[in-house]
Amino acid sequence: MMSPDGHTGPGRITSRQRRLLGQALELEDFAGLVRPFLPRAVHGYVTNGADSGGVVTSNRTIFDRWRMVTRVLRDVSARTQATTLFGHEYAAPFGIAPMGSAAVIAFDADNRMARAAASANVPFILSANSITPMEEVVKANPDMWFAAYQSPDHAKIERMVERVAQAGIKVFVLTVDVPVGSNRPADARTGYTMPLSPTPRLALDSILHPRWLVGTGMRTLSRRGMPAISNVEANEPIGLFSRNVGRVTGYSSFTWREAELIRKLWKGPFVLKGVLAAEDVRIAREGGIDGIVVSNHGGRQLGCAVSPMEVLHEIKAKSGDMTVIVDSGFRRGTDLLTACALGADFVLVGRPFLYATALAGEAGLRHAMSLLAREVDIGMGLLGVRTLAELGPEYLRATTGSVHEHQPEY
Ligand SMILES: Cc1cc2nc3c(=O)[nH]c(=O)nc-3n(C[C@H](O)[C@H](O)[C@H](O)COP(=O)(O)O)c2cc1C
Repeated sequence: MMSPDGHTGPGRITSRQRRLLGQALELEDFAGLVRPFLPRAVHGYVTNGADSGGVVTSNRTIFDRWRMVTRVLRDVSARTQATTLFGHEYAAPFGIAPMGSAAVIAFDADNRMARAAASANVPFILSANSITPMEEVVKANPDMWFAAYQSPDHAKIERMVERVAQAGIKVFVLTVDVPVGSNRPADARTGYTMPLSPTPRLALDSILHPRWLVGTGMRTLSRRGMPAISNVEANEPIGLFSRNVGRVTGYSSFTWREAELIRKLWKGPFVLKGVLAAEDVRIAREGGIDGIVVSNHGGRQLGCAVSPMEVLHEIKAKSGDMTVIVDSGFRRGTDLLTACALGADFVLVGRPFLYATALAGEAGLRHAMSLLAREVDIGMGLLGVRTLAELGPEYLRATTGSVHEHQPEY
């Protein structure tokens, strides 16, 4: 994309971007810093939640439920946050969540996020709803994961599994919390629709944000052609302005039967993303699934969904040896440490990483990731742990007087 003050190559940033990054001291800063540069509809598409947006808020306030007990006089000089998932040792306990249409927000965002993740040695998950073909992105990051939105048609499942394997992708994620598209009145209000519809309002919104218009919109059109969702069907891109694009996520007849078929066909690690019920975790475990992402899709699906942190302990109890990943609202190193103490193996972060990419490309994302890794590192030192595996429920206390008084026993 064109950065806030001009075109830059993948890794380089302008002095203005450098100044803006200097103002980004924590993950929550990125949304505000990038807001002036993005059309309202585009910024809103990333920020908004479903229905009234209340779950986006509760995904943050939930963390007030816990405080942590520090241990002292331990040698923490050799602490490490390195975490091994599916046989790969990552440098940090977090990765980049799959985000559809990311390249509409920031020029070439799929490749840029993939490269930044590779250089930081953290996982990058490409969404099926992305603009850049997986075969191209995997060249930027051979360790990337792929998150499918999958048609229940068995022949299409076979073709997609074959395509992902052919691309050399290591981890197959299936997003399971979008049987139907969600209700997002806030998007409708700003004019962000799928398919995109070039209304006068959207045109005006874009003209009023010339840096996005030239640096992302026009640059994408001139360099990459008309944007299309490229990773949903086995090999048929669906134009963002095409009427068919509206139905690519809502596969309401997709069931455990189809998940079992993918399990049978896919030889590598297979992860279900968007699980909140312990009973579903049991079914997944018995079906030979390797991992789950406990997620409410960042508050973008059911407008009254529980936050993953509310159910993490129940889920952990049913997960057996499956890898437990969690996302939705994670912004602080201490949020990650709290989740690890509740039994999570890993965390995904969505919006702040996309905003950081929109603000300053790969450098912006690397900066965001380093802020989070630094907070994890400080938290570990202050808690007195050398590895994340040392964390457990004994480090947690429920806050008194919180609205969540019915805290379960850990
Ligand atoms: C703009 C945007 C697009 C998203 N697209 C997808 C997607 O295509 N597939 C998917 O599984 N999750 C998608 N998500 C959800 C994220 O993967 C993740 O669950 C969520 O953003 C985590 O919450 P956070 O943004 O509060 O960190 C999207 C989220 C955002 C913000």
